[in-house]
Amino acid sequence: MKETTEMSGEIAIDLMVNGTEHRIAVPPNLSLLDCLRDKVGLTGSKECCAVGECGACTVEMDGQLVNSCLCLAVEADGKAVTTAEAEDEDLGSVRDAFLQTGSVQCGFCIPGMVMAARAILRDEKADDAVAVREGLSGNLCRCGGYNRMFEAMARVSARQARAEAPTGPVVGTDVERSGGRARADGSQKFLADLTIDNVAHLKLVTLPVAHARIDGIDASAAWKVPGVLDIVTAVDLPQPLMHFGPVYKDRPVLAAAETRHHGEPVAVIAAETKEAAEEAALLVEVSYTALPAVTDIEAATAPEAPLVQPPELRPNDPRSGTNILNERVTEWGDLDAPGADVVVEGIYGFPMVTHFAIEPHGFIVDARSDRMTVWSPVQHPYLLQRMMADLFELPLTSVQVLAPDPGGGFGGKQNPKFEPLVALISRRIGRPCRLVLTLEETFQNVRRTATRMKMRTGFTKDGDLVFQDAEADYLVGAYGDISERVMAKGSYLGAGPYRTPNARIRARAILSHTTPATAFRGFGTPQMSWAYEGQMDKAARALGIDGLAIRMRNLARKGDEVVPGDFGADGHWEQSLQKAADLLGWQTPLPEGHGRGIAVAIKAGATTGLSNATVRLLADGSVVVYAGTSDMGQGARTIFAQLAADAFGAPMDRVTVVSGDTSAVPFDLQTSASRSTVFMGNAISKACEDLHRQLAEMAAELSGLELEQISVTNGIIHLPEAPVPIMDFVCAELRSWGGELVGTGRMRRHSLKDHPLGGTPAFFEFNCTAFEVSVDEGTGEILIHRHVTVGDVGKALNPLQVEMQDEGAAIMGLGHSMMEHLVLGENGEIRNLGALDYRIPTTKDMPLSLVTGIVENGDGPGPYGAKGVSEGAILCTAPALAAAVAQATGVVIDDLPLTPERVWRAVQTRDR
Ligand code: FES
Ligand code: FES
Repeated sequence: MKETTEMSGEIAIDLMVNGTEHRIAVPPNLSLLDCLRDKVGLTGSKECCAVGECGACTVEMDGQLVNSCLCLAVEADGKAVTTAEAEDEDLGSVRDAFLQTGSVQCGFCIPGMVMAARAILRDEKADDAVAVREGLSGNLCRCGGYNRMFEAMARVSARQARAEAPTGPVVGTDVERSGGRARADGSQKFLADLTIDNVAHLKLVTLPVAHARIDGIDASAAWKVPGVLDIVTAVDLPQPLMHFGPVYKDRPVLAAAETRHHGEPVAVIAAETKEAAEEAALLVEVSYTALPAVTDIEAATAPEAPLVQPPELRPNDPRSGTNILNERVTEWGDLDAPGADVVVEGIYGFPMVTHFAIEPHGFIVDARSDRMTVWSPVQHPYLLQRMMADLFELPLTSVQVLAPDPGGGFGGKQNPKFEPLVALISRRIGRPCRLVLTLEETFQNVRRTATRMKMRTGFTKDGDLVFQDAEADYLVGAYGDISERVMAKGSYLGAGPYRTPNARIRARAILSHTTPATAFRGFGTPQMSWAYEGQMDKAARALGIDGLAIRMRNLARKGDEVVPGDFGADGHWEQSLQKAADLLGWQTPLPEGHGRGIAVAIKAGATTGLSNATVRLLADGSVVVYAGTSDMGQGARTIFAQLAADAFGAPMDRVTVVSGDTSAVPFDLQTSASRSTVFMGNAISKACEDLHRQLAEMAAELSGLELEQISVTNGIIHLPEAPVPIMDFVCAELRSWGGELVGTGRMRRHSLKDHPLGGTPAFFEFNCTAFEVSVDEGTGEILIHRHVTVGDVGKALNPLQVEMQDEGAAIMGLGHSMMEHLVLGENGEIRNLGALDYRIPTTKDMPLSLVTGIVENGDGPGPYGAKGVSEGAILCTAPALAAAVAQATGVVIDDLPLTPERVWRAVQTRDR
């Protein structure tokens, strides 16, 4: 019989965790996951879905893998539990293989994943590709590292020895990811893993409908829950109610009189424990009247449509009497110009999808005094700092943002969400406050814009583009967020990477009673390419021209302006197109029943902004780089360390990159638009050049030579008598000379007032994607035999990281192409909230073969001629796949995703 503590109802259990015994008192309903994290203090096991679908919480219990979120701590009584933190040989081999193959990106899924991989290894199935796919399929990786993981398992099964770290220059080599090991052994601290003294836990109170009038809120029952500290509604907060947003200041910290999207909070509970906060939230009674919700483009633009935002929220906006948030027109040439022999038309639907980072959003704020500390895994810490300072009327020096590495961002963690609300509650109750959202709540707060595009495209009989006439409606949410910019940037390149003599692209961002739409990998481009590449294939079929040939014919060549008057094509894009075709085997005979498709797309890189870097060269040859870029899986820190290591000839383990603290690291505008390698990379290179200058001055002073007699290049001080390695020089001289050297560098691109995007893009991300598929016409299922993606990257500073980013983007693209879409009910409620009902790709959805290629011509604006990467492979997944399906089946589908049901229905229609 177990001991039960009378007063608390807790039960004492004995756990053997990673070989150490623990006697712990636990409530009977405590999950094993919470027990491990909160009672044992091992935070390697993560919580994402909490329903047994994601595998982030995977541990082993008496030799069996379990999802610890579904297992009660009392069930583990007397059992041996192994977590990702364990030291054992198999785990060590798996971790090494994961790191060496580039399987570790953001790392949030990795502790669970290595546990699943270890079980496969123990079952001696690591060499069985089918068993590996099956064995890892219960673990979701939104960074899309699956292909790398397959390779890791092959390495492990072959007992391949750990490769030696490269010697000599590291730029251009597959250096292991900085911070990767901590992600693989569970020691990396993500936001929810942080322990803050005396923190209060918050829980949001929401309604089950999107649009509702709030008639009353009765919190009396909730107040009776022991441990409740505060229950706050909009009227309890300082008035006028705080509104915020990165572009429009339209989002209230809490809904006041009405809610405008499903999941918008109407009250918030603060309590001593998260369990108390959750219990109290369920007891708050909200009387409300459901109001008509507009959730699609037709409804939102109908003449009698209810306004999502009251006109007073949009002062001086001529469109405030409508649901149109903004509109843009990009046009050149003359649409009526003669010459089109064939005109193709189409209406293309791109679904509403969500980011589904495996780390749900979380926020901690300590606003007890005039100083404020904000912990947020945000992509733009400095913009958050500015916004909080403005909202709370504090000097910037009084707001410190600590940004733990995000467990995946993909654009969803760019802009503030609940930081202002958490700060307000912290001020009220005089304690630090913490709000960690569930995955379901995260779904309710970020998503991609859904889009409907109507296109008419003219071609000559030879396949030359004559005109492109497009209308693109981006369905944004209840608040503007950054979605107007998504619409602007996506539609600006709405004619694609082609020489288009005449074009008009009209685009609108349309408000609706849905989750606020924000940035999402590709930033409006995957939507547009779905349409313009669909048109290209329609034309190819109509004209009897091969899909590769029609693209090759129209593709802009280096220097050609895709939007006349703007920046020209910055690469030999035709090389990527040809390479993808070759890698797919485009010209080889097509097996019976198979189809092939190919597509291209461009995305404008960052246009403006500032990145600062500071680099310290210490007396023992260590290097510290201060760079305010968030490392959310793209591996920015690794690239920065590589640049600094080569600048001084320092080994990688002598270089530290500091980020994530606005009080310690200089300003960097943002981590988005694939800008970090170019913007921050250049800033770091300039800081290193600054140090090279200082080293030359120091050498001149010490040697008595003239400065002109000395030069410094990567790793070497060139003196007249002999070159001296910088490391030797520094270690011998710097301590007594003065201590250390500090270099600074920055990259800034000015904004251009009259440019539609605020400035010309610093670079383009160009990608070509190609597929070979077959389709089971009885079920509509698509089998991908080969998936090829090729990016024009300028220079791959770390080819392994480029590859893993491309593969991740490609797999994310498969999500919106084949399975993902948020389903809304009649009251605008999301019906497939969470991992049980919203599917993202698993290992079982992986193509039979996924091949990544790169084109390097050193023609980018970043260090060594690099361009930004990481979004390219998502840009045109959908049209390439659809073209392959069309060739395999003869059915052309213009709406995504290509679910088995949609494909099957299209086949049935064909056969009628
Ligand atoms: S958190 Fe346990 S399976 Fe997702
Ligand atoms: S590394 Fe798997 S979710 Fe990021």
